[in-house]
Amino acid sequence: MAVELYNDGRHVCLAFYDLVDEEHDHAVQSNQFLIADSGHGALIDPGGNMTYSALLMAMQRYFPSKELNYVLASHADPDIIASINKWFIASPCKVLISNLWTRFVPHFTTGRDIAGRIEGIPDQGMNIPLGESVIKAVPAHFMHSEGNFQFYDPVAKILFSGDLGVSLVDHDRAAEPVADFAAHIPLLEGFHRRYMVSNRILRFWARMARTLDIEQIVPQHGQRFVGKAMCHQFIDWIEQQSCGIDLMTQENYRVVA
Ligand SMILES: [Fe+2]
Ligand SMILES: [Fe+2]
Repeated sequence: MAVELYNDGRHVCLAFYDLVDEEHDHAVQSNQFLIADSGHGALIDPGGNMTYSALLMAMQRYFPSKELNYVLASHADPDIIASINKWFIASPCKVLISNLWTRFVPHFTTGRDIAGRIEGIPDQGMNIPLGESVIKAVPAHFMHSEGNFQFYDPVAKILFSGDLGVSLVDHDRAAEPVADFAAHIPLLEGFHRRYMVSNRILRFWARMARTLDIEQIVPQHGQRFVGKAMCHQFIDWIEQQSCGIDLMTQENYRVVA
């Protein structure tokens, strides 16, 4: 079932939390998103082949897949865009992804009829026109992918944060906003410690994030942060975290006996 993150009648943001079902309990729960504005539509991180059919069906009630303009990909992981070949067939969409990955994405496709359909986002980010609105691709490099973007919707004031802010929970829980930030920390810690690259990067990001007017931070796995105060609690917390190379020592680089 789709969760309406924002709807003013002209501009709609939807989240799909339950498309990776129990049948696939060996696969990580993941969220997919649709933004529609004035007859134009973009999917954010639509996922892989497991979520393709369910997302195609679920989105039709809100936006016809045949008119999809974009797939916006935060990075090139399988849970982000492994289904891109199917979206290329089902719709006229282009995929927008970091310049670092444009030559890797064709490996998810048959390689046929994709000329002009993979557009690179430059390292500094870009404004992406969508109907009457503009979606901002915001730099999020090394969180966790080397060429990584988040997508900020200034109408809905939502930051779609990709793999930042992720909590690994089941899909019933994932659809609920975080209620208590302190109680949520144990669900954030393990993932961020290993999948984020360094505290230096998190500090750059936090400083940038504070310049945005954010009502919701919506990650690609698990629960979202709703309300300015909750979003700022997350930003303040992540800025303090040691992770990735901060924690690695020679102990992590020994050949097994
Ligand atoms: Fe990822
Ligand atoms: Fe992910």
